[in-house]
Amino acid sequence: MSLHDEVNKRRTFAIISHPDAGKTTLTEKLLLYGNLIRSAGTVKGKKSGKFATSDWMELEKQRGISITSSVMNFPYEDYEVNILDTPGHEDFSEDTYRTLTAVDSVVMIIDATKGIEAQTIKLFKVCRMRGIPIFTFINKLDREGKEPFDLLEEIEQVLDIETYPMNWPAGMGKRFLGIFDRHDKQFVRYNGNEEESYIPYSDLEDPEHQDLVSQAAYQAAADELSLLDEAGDQFSLDAVLAGKQTPVFFGSALAPFGVQTFFDTFISMAPAPAPRKTTDGVISPDNPEFSGFIFKIQANMNPAHRDRVAFIRVCSGKFERGMTVKLARTDKPVKLSQSQQFVASARDTVEEAYAGDIIGIYDPNAYRIGDTLIEGRENFEYDELPQFPPELFKKVTAKNVMKAKQFRKGIEQLVQEGAIQLYKGHRTEANILGAVGELQYEVFQYRMQNEYNAEVMFESIGERIPRWLKTDKVDESIFDERSLLTLDREGNFVVLFKNDFSLKLFQDKNPDVELIDLFEENKYDQTY
Ligand code: G4P
Repeated sequence: MSLHDEVNKRRTFAIISHPDAGKTTLTEKLLLYGNLIRSAGTVKGKKSGKFATSDWMELEKQRGISITSSVMNFPYEDYEVNILDTPGHEDFSEDTYRTLTAVDSVVMIIDATKGIEAQTIKLFKVCRMRGIPIFTFINKLDREGKEPFDLLEEIEQVLDIETYPMNWPAGMGKRFLGIFDRHDKQFVRYNGNEEESYIPYSDLEDPEHQDLVSQAAYQAAADELSLLDEAGDQFSLDAVLAGKQTPVFFGSALAPFGVQTFFDTFISMAPAPAPRKTTDGVISPDNPEFSGFIFKIQANMNPAHRDRVAFIRVCSGKFERGMTVKLARTDKPVKLSQSQQFVASARDTVEEAYAGDIIGIYDPNAYRIGDTLIEGRENFEYDELPQFPPELFKKVTAKNVMKAKQFRKGIEQLVQEGAIQLYKGHRTEANILGAVGELQYEVFQYRMQNEYNAEVMFESIGERIPRWLKTDKVDESIFDERSLLTLDREGNFVVLFKNDFSLKLFQDKNPDVELIDLFEENKYDQTY
């Protein structure tokens, strides 16, 4: 098979959702379709304790959650599927955001009974801002939920994106009859735990379907559907691929109902790996020379070995186990050994991989997040991974002053690895850690103690709004506790505002001081 064909059958995506929306349940169904697992309930049983195989850290066990995004890959029909899992909500970390730089599309799951939940909006917005194609699955139709039109409106308003319902539900909860499949022009009947049945639109008038057609929920949905056909947005694959329109599927991951149709349609529409920007122009995935970038480094996946695994998104060419490539940052050769791919909770050695695939390689402490690896002679780097502005800040100190050396080394390495961000208090030199989620502090504390033998103490500065200053000269007298002046690792000034009010007050008082919102600055497309 040609490199072009190998690349074109790859589908690399992340599933994003608010906890409990049904991500695990849906993922399990996809793994079942891919014949990867024989029964549901083997991916992770949060409450059932079927978690042991994927445990890599004591903390993970204690919390009963999966801390770092994991990767699964499997063949499905003519495709090679790579799914990246992303923890959300309070388990959010910068890893979650970075994972999005390694995918070509996302599946967004929304619980029909809840709609879009506040804590997840940011994650959805990052996808929207980066122009990643978003496919929406509205889950739990077997329960009484919000009105479908209201759910669509919510998605449109929050994400500023067009919606196109690929199917339309008739009833919900106890009255749930099934869905009108607009794509394949058929009614898919929900039969509870029994297999669903398919009725082409042209057969719906037949007397045998009278019991269905005469029901009020069916009639209401049919009326809504004609309204949609007349007044709703037109489907446009171009708009979907540009991240401007999201195809919406209704269904139930648990039943399962509508999941296979969703997956088949999604996989046929979702983009294959696309060219990516580098410092030396655009690189096509069909370029025969291997290249890729590291988007995540995970330490201690295996507590017995204390190893570090660097996750690479292959962006062009073919990867072969043991190959020697160049690390763009140092311009030095490195051998990619102990490469792995990830199937559910197991790790398999991978012999070869193609653009679009995600592989893990052994990291002898040589890599950094954002590193580019290249087979060819030229040197280039993939676009820098965006730095995401933290929202939580804590001062950190060593519990035992005798351990100052271990403390410094631990901070330095964990910050370099991208586990957390470090800021220095201006003049005070205090170590201030910035994170996007509380969990990052727990992981930091745990790893400082276990890997560097340095116990740490935190003093919370609370939620803050960070703004970068455009200038490197400041009049110190204009800052105070509500507008704390700090320096980031590159020595740029960062002001940590206590709240919206203090930010606004500062701007009113100092109209000449230009403030940069990094979250807004990250607004660029990763591919084209
Ligand atoms: P998450 O990974 O997004 O956190 O969600 P997960 O799949 O674990 O699902 C959260 C809960 O929602 C689970 O119930 C799951 O069974 C239920 N669920 C998922 N999809 C559907 C659906 O389509 N319909 C209905 N009615 N429920 C659904 P739980 O009781 O919290 O966990 P469990 O003990 O059943 O595992």
